[in-house]
Amino acid sequence: MAKKKLNKSKQAKASKKSARKVVKLAPKKAAKKTNGNGLPKASNKPWGQAGKALSGVRILDFTHVQSGPTCTQLLAWMGADVIKVERPGVGDITRGQLVDVKGADSLYFTMLNHNKRSITIDSKHPQGKRVLDELVKKCDVLVENFAPGALDRMGLTWEHIHKLNPRMIVASVKGFGPGPYEDCKVYENVAQCAGGSASTTGFREGPPLVTGAQIGDSGTGLHLALGIVCALYQRNRTGRGQKVLAAMQDGVLNLCRVKLRDQQRLKAGPLSEYSQYGEGVAFGDSVPRAGNDSGGGQPGWILKCRGWETDPNAYIYFITQAPVWGAICDVIGEPNWKVDPDYATPRARLPRLRAIFDRIEQWTTTKSKFEVMEICNKVDIPVGPILSMKEIAEEPSLRKTGTVVEVDHPTRGKYLTVGNPIKLSDSISEVKRSPLLGEHTDEILKDVLKLPAKDIAEIKNSGALSAPKKEEKAA
Ligand code: COA
Repeated sequence: MAKKKLNKSKQAKASKKSARKVVKLAPKKAAKKTNGNGLPKASNKPWGQAGKALSGVRILDFTHVQSGPTCTQLLAWMGADVIKVERPGVGDITRGQLVDVKGADSLYFTMLNHNKRSITIDSKHPQGKRVLDELVKKCDVLVENFAPGALDRMGLTWEHIHKLNPRMIVASVKGFGPGPYEDCKVYENVAQCAGGSASTTGFREGPPLVTGAQIGDSGTGLHLALGIVCALYQRNRTGRGQKVLAAMQDGVLNLCRVKLRDQQRLKAGPLSEYSQYGEGVAFGDSVPRAGNDSGGGQPGWILKCRGWETDPNAYIYFITQAPVWGAICDVIGEPNWKVDPDYATPRARLPRLRAIFDRIEQWTTTKSKFEVMEICNKVDIPVGPILSMKEIAEEPSLRKTGTVVEVDHPTRGKYLTVGNPIKLSDSISEVKRSPLLGEHTDEILKDVLKLPAKDIAEIKNSGALSAPKKEEKAA
């Protein structure tokens, strides 16, 4: 009995000791993880091995075609788990557009949907809606670029989503922001026209032109990605999600900012850096098309190089930047222009730019675009060779940086794609092939929603995850 008592008191002492230990240890442990300001301590893991920038962020990806998929692909490269919801049997419409390999997903699709997982759900089927609601609860961001109203018609209104998951960020690409055109469906070139790009692109004498760069689709996807990351950051403080909208018209206009600048400058007189000024052509009341004039204050133009007669891309962009005017004169063999009052100053050159570029072109046509590049770069003259897509695809330095990547795909084989153009030193992007339609349906139901096999079978049997059978379709 006495022994027992002794033991008990020993035990009590020991547990008191260990309790004291725990109390002592707890603040020590917390202090280990944070610095003096209560912020996480700098990781001592090697660069690139401390997880990805967006790891832990889960995206419910309802995007299709180009603008939305560009955005979610970027987030996936940064480490987000992107779950792409696709219509059973059909998927993203681009899977079957511009097909080059029969039976395989198109390059249009594969090049915009890397690093994502695909689940097929009929969002209008009652069981499909149930699955979507569960996914809403498990995700951080819903991204969509449906036509206006489509998400609401699926029952996924902001109110519904926010009630299920107050932390959810709902990010949308639309053609137009609120206003007279908000209900319109919009594609790339419509946005280029409505955002001020087409009216300011092309030659003065010709019609408006659209550009090859997808500033309406991919450009707006980029804008949306930034909005999402900002909303995630703000959520750390507020604890709640918000709506993020990137309208394609707004995105294009943002990229045409310098043209709205010029619109206002017109009030102060003609735009002297536009070549039409030097040519004595009057300005109207809106910004004209400026051909290949450079957008800044340094005159530039596209000039022919050796071989231009047969090679459509044997050209170079040449900028007559004022600080290197002397070097330009020496390179082209006009040293007198350095002191000739008609050429020596930028102002004196303005009315003569056409003739100046003609003279520079006499020199560039004696050289290949790469020779011009080499000679000019040595003396800091800014020039840019017009690279064909073939040259870009074969450029070793772009392969080395992961900007152009070769990817293997189970049904199409090897193909080239553009990797993540944004390089983070501690979050290295790997480009993983795009998913096959519904490739991860089971995995997501099991691992993300943690549904038991019985429930998965029930949902599958309901038809919510598969294409309607042919006879049902006909009926
Ligand atoms: N299950 C069931 N139905 C689905 C579905 C799914 N998983 N995914 C989509 N749908 C339905 C939608 O609910 C919608 O049906 P509803 O109109 O009956 O409500 C329908 O498919 C198609 O949506 P929509 O967005 O109208 O496609 P579209 O092919 O007619 O239009 C765009 C394409 C791109 C013009 C249009 O989506 C749009 O304007 N988007 C915004 C701007 C944009 O991003 N444009 C650039 C695209 S690169």
